Amino acid sequence: MSGKNLLASDFLETCRARVDAELDRCITRDSASGRLQEAMRYSVLGGGKRIRPALCLAAAKAMGQTGDEALIPACSVELIHAYSLIHDDLPAMDDDELRRGRPTTHIAFDEATAILAGDALQALAFGWLAEAPGLSESVRLIMVRELARASGHGGMVGGQAIDLESVGKTLALAQLETMHRHKTGALIETSVRIGALTAPSVDEQALASLTQYAKALGLAFQVQDDLLDIEGDTTVIGKPQGSDAARAKPTYPALLGLEGAREHLANLLEQAQQSLQAFGPEADPLRAMADYVVARTH
Ligand code: IPE
Ligand code: IPE
Ligand code: MG
Ligand code: MG
Ligand code: MG
Repeated sequence: MSGKNLLASDFLETCRARVDAELDRCITRDSASGRLQEAMRYSVLGGGKRIRPALCLAAAKAMGQTGDEALIPACSVELIHAYSLIHDDLPAMDDDELRRGRPTTHIAFDEATAILAGDALQALAFGWLAEAPGLSESVRLIMVRELARASGHGGMVGGQAIDLESVGKTLALAQLETMHRHKTGALIETSVRIGALTAPSVDEQALASLTQYAKALGLAFQVQDDLLDIEGDTTVIGKPQGSDAARAKPTYPALLGLEGAREHLANLLEQAQQSLQAFGPEADPLRAMADYVVARTH
């Protein structure tokens, strides 16, 4: 393991501890239904690498943020991610029964509760972001707008729609890229941008470079996810290996072959790292996270 990977695992571990403590403390304090609350907690707190919050916190650091202002924004992105996974696993979507090594939410509870838990997590994410402490009203508004755009029909949900419409079809490379950039890339991009926006002063050039980094990494993230669906082991990835092939999903390996997908992944990593060239050691956590995302085994 290289020094950078060691740093990534240390950084991720620290972020995970901070984010998990905050999620555990705040989630569903005032839920009207005990069962709904249980399903929300089950979906959010049962593992998860916390890559998006870690990217949010790493971007804040890269922009010179030294306080805790990015913590609640980081958690709010994770809430959107958790909701997207609950819905992604539903019978009407990928119909998967295993997530993070445990039964998916609709299996552990029931479909209706899973749908509602996802809905509630989405609302909670925006509520948290709108009240993120230590930030001005105008910054909060910009962050809410960013997260809304990345989550909705022009972002993650739009990508999920393309995914479902594309089952059994062979997409052109550009179409596949568009799908991945929406369904996975958008939320990763926004994780980085929201983190950066919490900095006391936001340099536009630096923000543009971080956005380039996040675009490349967001795409790389899904390419590696597609590779793990083929090459991974169910017990390690914590979700059913072969799910994409079983449902005839368009993926990078399906289109380019394993070697082609791996090459593409390496190019994207290079692009991500290049985008950080103008930054000093303050961007080391972002550099390490990029290496981690493409080398991860789950
Ligand atoms: C899986 O995301 C879903 C995709 C967008 C490909 P992660 O691999 O980040 O899932 P967790 O949160 O660690 O379980
Ligand atoms: C899901 O992509 C992307 C989301 C928006 C949740 P996948 O369907 O490939 O994610 P996994 O493999 O089930 O985690
Ligand atoms: Mg899916
Ligand atoms: Mg899936
Ligand atoms: Mg997948």
